Amino acid sequence: MKNIGIIGCGNILETYMRAEEYFNNLNFVACADINLDATKKTAEQYNIIPLSVDEILNDKNIDIILNLTIPQAHYEISKLALDSNKHVYCEKPMSVKYSDAKNLLNLASKNNLYLGNAPDTFLGGGGQLARKIVDNNDIGQILTGNFVFAFPGVQDFHPNPESWFQEGGGPVIDMGPYFFTTLVNLLGPAKSVTGRGMKFFENREYKAGPKKGKMFSVDIPTSYMLNIEFHNKAMIQGFISFDVLNHKRNHMELYGTNGSIVVPDPNMFGGPVSISGELGSEWRDISVEDKPLGKTNIINHSGRSNEAPKQANYRGIGLAEMIDSMENNRKHRCNSELALHVLDLIECTMLSSSKMEDIQLRTTCLKPEPLGDDSVKKLLKVDTQK
Ligand SMILES: NC(=O)c1ccc[n+]([C@@H]2O[C@H](COP(=O)([O-])OP(=O)(O)OC[C@H]3O[C@@H](n4cnc5c(N)ncnc54)[C@H](O)[C@@H]3O)[C@@H](O)[C@H]2O)c1
Repeated sequence: MKNIGIIGCGNILETYMRAEEYFNNLNFVACADINLDATKKTAEQYNIIPLSVDEILNDKNIDIILNLTIPQAHYEISKLALDSNKHVYCEKPMSVKYSDAKNLLNLASKNNLYLGNAPDTFLGGGGQLARKIVDNNDIGQILTGNFVFAFPGVQDFHPNPESWFQEGGGPVIDMGPYFFTTLVNLLGPAKSVTGRGMKFFENREYKAGPKKGKMFSVDIPTSYMLNIEFHNKAMIQGFISFDVLNHKRNHMELYGTNGSIVVPDPNMFGGPVSISGELGSEWRDISVEDKPLGKTNIINHSGRSNEAPKQANYRGIGLAEMIDSMENNRKHRCNSELALHVLDLIECTMLSSSKMEDIQLRTTCLKPEPLGDDSVKKLLKVDTQK
């Protein structure tokens, strides 16, 4: 059993702690944070050892660092962990800068260490069923498509929303990883991107927490429209925005030569997947409730447009699958070539917007291997169907 030490004891930690109850190879033993209170509280709540960042990095008992710090600290913490000869699994994005993420990839391969990255949502029931439909050629060759993530921004509920509106934040870095990873899983690597971003207001109002009613400054664009060309020639249009109150669009639609598919929320694990065939044919919803990582397990309505009140959330499968890959000497699905390519697409989208030109991506990657139900079941501690 590999021992995992967590750095970053914030909001998302609870979700990983829940993953320990689902997956049979997750063993969280210690935690650390620059905020000592957060470290202490987390350690007490989950009965793990509180350590300083230095101590956790030097603890010989710990094999893997789970990096749950804020995006702006991902590089620093992942680098320290790799330098300390620990394997790393990091939340999305891999880093806020492509060049730093590339250093991490090189460092991991030089030191012969596994480096994995969220998102792992594409390994869910919905993402994998969509992949099967595309791979089976059920809707033919995908030529075009679109996706949307749009909501008003985190200032409505988050007491400290500033980092989302400063360098290293923004809608493409925050939500791009889910949509871009899902697209690469379905279509393969991207070739080029044209993006256009806009900052509509210089300031925003805190709507929650102790600073409610005060204003904070917006330093970066808050809405992006983009066109991505993939190596397989598919052309996909995207809209990612912190400037929309309500909308009624599907998360992602892809159009093929024999039909069309509505891909479920790339931020979640469930379904249904919706498909239609020839011109004018009915849409057919295919449920993934019978899949081990597709069954609804949370009820949590954020109020955002097109976000279902019931969701399937099995975050942690990417880490469990990485550990299984380490033990079986295999490439992991949430690997750093995939995450670097996704970060390349994120950075090129923003670069294209500031330069007002089409940008060719610097990287490519392989489509991750599909993850079958039987492989998932081997990693499960519980029957998610019960
Ligand atoms: N909150 C979510 O719903 C959610 C969902 C999916 C992914 N994520 C990702 O998870 C990561 C963490 O998000 P969060 O919402 O938990 O953030 P958070 O701000 O609630 O927690 C981050 C924690 O990291 C600590 N930290 C920051 N810099 C550090 C450093 N240099 N060394 C040690 N500790 C440090 C902070 O003190 C804080 O406790 C982000 O990458 C985010 O993109 C979050």
